Amino acid sequence: MPDATKVRNQVSDAYTEAINKATGCCGPTCCGPTKYYDPEVVADLPATPSFGCGDPLAFSEVEAGQTVVDLGSGAGLDLLVAAKKVGSAGHVIGVDMTDAMIEVARKNVASAGFSQVEVRKGIIEDLPIEDGTVDWVISNCVINLSPEKERVFAEIARVLRPGGHMLVSDIVAEDLPAWVRESPFLTNACIGGAISEKAYLGGLEAAGLVDVEVVEKVTYTSESLLASLKSDFPQMGGAAEVIWEEIGPQFEGKVHSIRVRARKA
Ligand SMILES: C[S@@+](CC[C@H](N)C(=O)[O-])C[C@H]1O[C@@H](n2cnc3c(N)ncnc32)[C@H](O)[C@@H]1O
Repeated sequence: MPDATKVRNQVSDAYTEAINKATGCCGPTCCGPTKYYDPEVVADLPATPSFGCGDPLAFSEVEAGQTVVDLGSGAGLDLLVAAKKVGSAGHVIGVDMTDAMIEVARKNVASAGFSQVEVRKGIIEDLPIEDGTVDWVISNCVINLSPEKERVFAEIARVLRPGGHMLVSDIVAEDLPAWVRESPFLTNACIGGAISEKAYLGGLEAAGLVDVEVVEKVTYTSESLLASLKSDFPQMGGAAEVIWEEIGPQFEGKVHSIRVRARKA
């Protein structure tokens, strides 16, 4: 099995476990919108677990009637927020490779009553989307997980129509030691596979996108990274603090959550 397929399978297994735990413990503290979303935007939506690292649509100008594609749509929170923006004349397509996530997202879309939203199974390195048909590509904490980021950047450029936009929320990291990059757990946790901001922006430009810019950047402290890991992977339990005491300081100031914008000329 090629290495990239192995990494995707490992990531998919981790998010199957994460969504099963998240829906299994559904309650006021672990389901529903996270701190990133304006409470007013999500108040009327079904409680939907989020594994994102920002609110990409808050930085977009998505309009009624447009087509939005969400790469790695997870349980579907950004699909629901996008559906409100595009309205019934628009079209929102989520793409994800993990069956358990797709199932939960489809349930959430049905429960919100949004007929303009569909979720397609596929990989973001080979999108099940036609060339030049999309107004906005969004994504929330997913591209860092891809072992083939150049393919993802090329796919974004392929599916956007001329003049279409990309707005993604993602993780970038500088100077992480090799053992972090090689750790399956830290890769699944959106840290190990994160590339530098320079490589990220350069990758988008190399794919032919223009006006590439970071519109928001938040640097994690060791404590905030631990809190985010525990929320996505509650199965870590109390072991998290013990391990983090040892390794956490190595991440201080090196891991960032960014909102990146780009356009197809
Ligand atoms: C960190 S979660 C983010 C989910 C969602 N965007 C959110 O904000 O809650 C990553 C999601 O991306 C999906 N994913 C990761 N790599 C992928 C790939 N190469 N192709 C398709 N889906 C992928 C996973 O199955 C999972 O649902």
